[in-house]
Amino acid sequence: MAGAKAAAVILAAGKGTRMKSALPKVMHAIAGQPMIGHVLASLAPLGASPIVVVVAPGMNDVAAAVAPHATAVQEQQHGTAHAVMAAREALGNGADDLLILYGDTPLIATATLQRLLERRRAADKPAVVVLGMRPTDGAEYGRLVVDGGGRLEAIVEHREATAEQRAIGLCNSGVMAVDGRQIWELLAAVSNKNTKGEYYLTDVVALARRQGLACAAIEAPAEELLGINSRAELAAAEAAMQVRLRAQAMAEGATLIDPSTVWFSHDTRLGRDVVVGPNVVFGPGVNVADDVEIRAFCHLDGARVEKGAVIGPFARLRPGSVIGAGAHIGNFVETKNARIAAGAKANHLSYLGDATVGERANIGAGTITCNYDGFGKYETVIGPGAFIGSNSALCAPVTIGAGAFVAAGSVITRNVAPDALAIARGEQVEKPGWAAIFRQLKEKMKKARS
Ligand code: UD1
Ligand code: MG
Repeated sequence: MAGAKAAAVILAAGKGTRMKSALPKVMHAIAGQPMIGHVLASLAPLGASPIVVVVAPGMNDVAAAVAPHATAVQEQQHGTAHAVMAAREALGNGADDLLILYGDTPLIATATLQRLLERRRAADKPAVVVLGMRPTDGAEYGRLVVDGGGRLEAIVEHREATAEQRAIGLCNSGVMAVDGRQIWELLAAVSNKNTKGEYYLTDVVALARRQGLACAAIEAPAEELLGINSRAELAAAEAAMQVRLRAQAMAEGATLIDPSTVWFSHDTRLGRDVVVGPNVVFGPGVNVADDVEIRAFCHLDGARVEKGAVIGPFARLRPGSVIGAGAHIGNFVETKNARIAAGAKANHLSYLGDATVGERANIGAGTITCNYDGFGKYETVIGPGAFIGSNSALCAPVTIGAGAFVAAGSVITRNVAPDALAIARGEQVEKPGWAAIFRQLKEKMKKARS
């Protein structure tokens, strides 16, 4: 229907008892983003308005996570039908179509929601369109009862189902598109006379049919409609999301040498011809430009890596790291809030925190920027072309001038001028012949004892 208006409600007020967690269920993360964020992201391209998230009292973190979308508070959790009713005022009354989603079903694709709306807008205008699936194990999902003519008759909750109904392969994903005006009358008729004593949203199907309204079901792949009620299901959803993100990275031109060992965040961006070795983990906020090589066993978080840089193996890039074009960050090097300019190298065993490293500077093995004194954090600036000898401690705040040289083993506490050599270590003392005399003495003592 041209010009039809859709609104959406996402149910997220459930206690999530089966998670056994202090955190609201929908705040548990998948690929580094709370479940509820995934649902909102899938919904976004459809332009539904308003989008109202139903929460329980005190779920302030959920309200903050979904802002600027509205939240409606369901004072007590009396079931999914009761939850939709809690959103009535916030939804207003203008929508032709109302999409109902569950905050614990985060893998749903935009295209599936689009199909659901299209079915709702088809000529027979079903009052309720339910999204069904056929999981290999129907587990505790509600079952869709379809009549001989292929029309949806009812949804039976697993707890209420007969053995015959439990044998139905077509299950309820929970997601629906309903008539945005008729739904309120249907919801008002739902009763709580069932084993849980709850108002089941699923009952609206049978109620609509009783009023002579059409109801329909469409199907989508079960992997997309996994409902998360336990930690084990959370892990299954994470695995499914990772499969999707790996496929997407490869489709966009990255090589993953062993895809199943690479872990992405929902927002990881990889350029073309990026090569990612085995066992690499991307935390949130990582942006990698073209031609970068990320070798095995790296962990990146909130970092930007520019064209042609080489990272790892075994490197750790923490938030605020910007690694310039062609730079090298090697084995057991950790960076945090550090800008490493083009062509600079820190190849072994270093910590670079709150630091700026100029172009083509060379950071020797074991260099540490001492950025913290137990109270504050301080900056280290290393100029372009500087050479920091191995095992140096740079006590911030400190600046090493362009082209300067820091001798190995130095503890640098004052600024070093450009092109100077700074040596800050005990001076070498040499005692000629001392070792030979020492050995002779020890041998003599050994003989005297035997
Ligand atoms: C629900 C469906 C079931 C379906 C399954 C799919 C009902 C009665 N059952 O069961 O048919 O197969 O989802 O995953 O709808 N919620 C509230 N307020 C409440 C109760 C729940 O907001 O009072 C929210 C929850 O936060 C959750 C969603 O509604 O996001 C579903 O609730 P949940 O308890 O997980 O229902 P299921 O038992 O999974
Ligand atoms: Mg559920």
